[in-house]
Amino acid sequence: MVTTPTGSATLAPVDSSVMLRDVGPLKAEVKNFSFYYDKFRALKNINMPIAEKKVTALIGPSGCGKSTLLRSFNRMHDLYANNRYEGEIMLYPEGINLVGRELEPIEIRMRCSMVFQKPNPFPKSIYENVAYGMRVRGISDKSLIEHRVEHALKGAALWDEVKDRLHSSGNSLSGGQQQRLCIARALATQPEVLLMDEPTAALDPMSTSRIEDLVTELEKTVTIVIVTHNMHQAARISDHTAFMYLGELIEFDETEKIFTNPSNPMTESYVTGRFG
Ligand SMILES: Nc1ncnc2c1ncn2[C@@H]1O[C@H](COP(=O)(O)OP(=O)(O)OP(=O)(O)O)[C@@H](O)[C@H]1O
Ligand SMILES: [Mg+2]
Repeated sequence: MVTTPTGSATLAPVDSSVMLRDVGPLKAEVKNFSFYYDKFRALKNINMPIAEKKVTALIGPSGCGKSTLLRSFNRMHDLYANNRYEGEIMLYPEGINLVGRELEPIEIRMRCSMVFQKPNPFPKSIYENVAYGMRVRGISDKSLIEHRVEHALKGAALWDEVKDRLHSSGNSLSGGQQQRLCIARALATQPEVLLMDEPTAALDPMSTSRIEDLVTELEKTVTIVIVTHNMHQAARISDHTAFMYLGELIEFDETEKIFTNPSNPMTESYVTGRFG
């Protein structure tokens, strides 16, 4: 429990109507959203805007629900029958509910693609790793695939390092290169939203900095939602930040406000490293 400067204790999230101030054009919106792993309610009535072509960071202590929320965006939880979504995650401009039944999960995963904490290239060549999503989507035009593979590898700042070895195994790359390969794979289906779950947690400082620069570059063309435990990273690369605790959204705001003058004392104690 956190004590406010006036001495009163609070665990309550700040009023969500205050949080949902104008963030510019929306790419997505989490509305009255809860998620259940069988009977366990891992997310509790989350309301949050995702601004178009901006970076939104999800922060909070281990187990607060960051990955659960991120995975809801591309319906990864569908793999288990007892998992349940409640409420909506709207994707704009169409106004499709990602957790509804309008779209097939496979279609959603192309439009909202995911990069994980540990680089996980497929046991295939560099080229085939990037081409994979297009093949799944039924694209067979060789020159189109070639063009998009090159474009995605350039977009992931990897092209110059691999252009002469496209048919080597993806596993022959360094950890940082593998993560950029996974970003290229995610970009190749031309997603509208890029979901990143602690994408630099397994990388050295140099590779981390390259991915951070890449996120800033990619923001010009794609909406990004990123989970990070690294407060400096969140402060450096995100436009908006959501602080979560025990399945609740405690505070959402512009990143600068969250890190310099948060409204909730819990947020302040977390971002300053004093969270007990
Ligand atoms: N497959 C699962 N079945 C049941 N409960 C789960 C499952 N996955 C996660 N949980 C629970 O849901 C809650 C949220 O977990 P989640 O993985 O989303 O947290 P997180 O914020 O991503 O944590 P971390 O920072 O450690 O990655 C936790 O209490 C966790 O134990
Ligand atoms: Mg997680």
